[in-house]
Amino acid sequence: MSKAQDNLAAAFAGEAQANRKYLAFAKKAEEEGKPEIAKLFRAAAEGETVHAHNHLRNLGGVKTTTENLQEAIKGETYEFEKMYPEFIAGAQAENEKGAEMSFEGAKKVEEIHQKMFEKALEKLNAGEEILDLDYYICPVCGYPAAAHAPEKCPICATPGEKFYKA
Ligand code: FE2
Ligand code: FE2
Ligand code: FE2
Repeated sequence: MSKAQDNLAAAFAGEAQANRKYLAFAKKAEEEGKPEIAKLFRAAAEGETVHAHNHLRNLGGVKTTTENLQEAIKGETYEFEKMYPEFIAGAQAENEKGAEMSFEGAKKVEEIHQKMFEKALEKLNAGEEILDLDYYICPVCGYPAAAHAPEKCPICATPGEKFYKA
């Protein structure tokens, strides 16, 4: 890998983080009754998304949908089988409760992501119809519900009326 390619990878990570950070900051500004600052953070966040996508594309990181599904399955599998179990054990050893809960919720949802992507890839390969469904997301753990929100989140018990459409 050339130095430029290494730098694209580092810049992609940084821009992707800045995007999510600014969206969290926008939400906080709104809670503080500062909608004009929230808009500023959202505008910058959109720009960081453009930068992140440019860097990823120039890294060759966006391929065909079949390849992208394979890549997503690989990433989700690594996260729920290896990364999060290790992080959870580490958080327990250090008695970091917040970190442990954060990792636990993510681990369970990554496994669901993996299964959703696997099913989609199987159907794509078999030429079967993939239903065009809307998804509703749990605001606490990220659990995705197809077609409609459940009565409560099967992972963290958040009431369904709190879910939002993806
Ligand atoms: Fe940027
Ligand atoms: Fe995931
Ligand atoms: Fe949840």
